[in-house]
Amino acid sequence: MIPRIYIPADSGALALGAEKVAKAIEKELKERGVEAKIVRNGSRGAYFLEPMVEVATAEGRVAYGPVKPSDVKSLFDSGFLKGGHHKRWLGAPDKIPFLAKQTRLTFARCGVIDPLSLDNYKSHGGLKGLENAVAMAPADIVKQVTESGLRGRGGAGFPTGIKWKTVLDTASEQKYIVCNADEGDSATFADRMIMEGDPFVLIEGMAIAGIATGATKGFVYIRSEYPHAVATMNKAVAVARKAGVLGLNVLGSPNAFDMEIRVGAGAYVCGEETSLLNSLEGKRGVVRAKPPLPAIQGLFGKPTVINNVISLASVPIIMDKGAAYYKDFGMGRSRGTIPIQIAGNVKHGGLFETAFGLTLGEIVDEIGGGTASGRPVKAVQVGGPLGAYFPRALFDTPFDYEEFAKRDGLIGHAGITVFDDTADMMKQARFAMEFCAIESCGKCTPCRIGSTRGMEVLDKVAAGIETEKNLSLVTDLCNTMKFGSLCALGGFTPYPVMSSITHFPEDFKPAPTRVAAE
Ligand SMILES: Cc1cc2nc3c(=O)[nH]c(=O)nc-3n(C[C@H](O)[C@H](O)[C@H](O)COP(=O)(O)O)c2cc1C
Ligand code: SF4
Repeated sequence: MIPRIYIPADSGALALGAEKVAKAIEKELKERGVEAKIVRNGSRGAYFLEPMVEVATAEGRVAYGPVKPSDVKSLFDSGFLKGGHHKRWLGAPDKIPFLAKQTRLTFARCGVIDPLSLDNYKSHGGLKGLENAVAMAPADIVKQVTESGLRGRGGAGFPTGIKWKTVLDTASEQKYIVCNADEGDSATFADRMIMEGDPFVLIEGMAIAGIATGATKGFVYIRSEYPHAVATMNKAVAVARKAGVLGLNVLGSPNAFDMEIRVGAGAYVCGEETSLLNSLEGKRGVVRAKPPLPAIQGLFGKPTVINNVISLASVPIIMDKGAAYYKDFGMGRSRGTIPIQIAGNVKHGGLFETAFGLTLGEIVDEIGGGTASGRPVKAVQVGGPLGAYFPRALFDTPFDYEEFAKRDGLIGHAGITVFDDTADMMKQARFAMEFCAIESCGKCTPCRIGSTRGMEVLDKVAAGIETEKNLSLVTDLCNTMKFGSLCALGGFTPYPVMSSITHFPEDFKPAPTRVAAE
């Protein structure tokens, strides 16, 4: 049997040097006259070990990482094609603690298979959900998704089945499925990992959504910063079309569904669903007032399902194993699994898929291993740039939509950014206002004007000017933004600002040495 070597072509692994490693391995194979098949897989998400190279041996896969090009010669000398020992030897990938502790439902194949091999996808359980769906009535598919308890993984946590039911129940000659792959939140990369590592699971999820709601056309709106994801998705759509997974007769059934990939132009607000629709229609990415809901009047005025990548990519396993199987994971009203993305100043950064319910402390200290700097953790921002900062005192909060809301926080797209004790929370609060000012679509006053006024007032606080008065002004302003903004960009910016002020008051004390807008 020709040995197989897996080298990730995932953007994260490439950023860490995977391409150079691939070239070095190719060269070494040639020089030694050894035949081997190189598979460019996605990443398993343990980024602290990337580039992680794996070889398929008779006893299963053996991983090495993080591999540098300078390691390649000695890897061959150590017999790595047979799993031989080396200083980069990690053993069986699924025994690596960071991976072994996970519950991989949505990401089961990511980093394991050849992303563009449909046969590989099928041999690892792919297409079973779609096969079941084509044999079912649309209402029954919607019922199964509803009963699974799946909620939108894009941020708002809205029940996916209810959204689909609205589209199913709205009569129209044309309906659409739009996949939100704008993934603008800081510390998030789950959507990208799936699109690069297991694109067929997203295609399968979108086809199921189409059949369930009567939509025959889908679009994936991918941020322009993801060129590798765009390329992989385009190739995967072509493969799926050729194999009859997409087209006039999905898997030979009477259901038609096809899709296209579209690239965004770099605006955070274009991740907001109605801005995204405007952008897809070729208009400026400005938020639309709701109602009408996109489910009733969405893309080109037609009923539209808009779902995040992970929401859609979680559907195939639900349709394969059943609603009860999926629902069995999780806690409270947060059912199933969630791919937590651990980033910032952290030792073990990466993607960790697990059932809802782990505490923030377990995620940061045990899974993440604490800070990369070795200093104490000061704060953790959960849910992207609009998420609250959590102090250690709140590390007992379980990862659950309602539990986070109770503590004035949000899960968002499940990205968490870790900060050590050198972080200045005043600067972080100002940054939130600045981010909002830069990214605001400008449609409503509390966000457009409020964010700039917020920066100015925080600059005064930083300069020690009438601290108490100005902090109370910031609080007032935050209330206006929270309750008066049209969308969550202006509406949620108060979360990082107010959580900084509430949990880290010492960073807002008058300090004459601080310089405004440092
Ligand atoms: C400013 C802003 C940015 C957003 N960015 C994203 C994004 O990048 N990806 C995403 O899936 N949802 C994003 N959302 C949420 C979407 O508006 C919408 O709730 C989501 O696409 C619905 O899909 P889901 O129900 O599957 O989560 C954003 C919302 C706001 C207000
Ligand atoms: S809150 Fe900001 S981004 Fe949202 S509609 Fe208003 S101005 Fe636009």
